[in-house]
Amino acid sequence: MTSVRLCAADDVKVEAPQRFEIEGQAICVVRDSAGELFALGDRCSHGDISLAEGFVEDDSIECWAHGSQFSLRTGWPRTLPAYEPVPVYRIQVQAGDIYIDPTPIFEEKS
Ligand code: FES
Repeated sequence: MTSVRLCAADDVKVEAPQRFEIEGQAICVVRDSAGELFALGDRCSHGDISLAEGFVEDDSIECWAHGSQFSLRTGWPRTLPAYEPVPVYRIQVQAGDIYIDPTPIFEEKS
């Protein structure tokens, strides 16, 4: 699958998640406090809530509704009540722009 340009890399600020729609999929893009970029499915696996409305801390994002925290790297929840992962997406920066491979990846639980 071809990667899709999302936006300028500078448009995604530290710990300020943003929601994008790509090929019918809602994707949450996050820059952590170390400056690393992540992309994951923008629907909490516990309910129909946008993770982009949540809170970023270290390498997790927390759903505001019931507090489940998801790994930005794997999409797996670290805390209940969610117990299923959200997909993650390959993300890269080229010439100052963010590109996403819109093929969702479900990581193995680690
Ligand atoms: S809807 Fe996200 S934790 Fe319940």
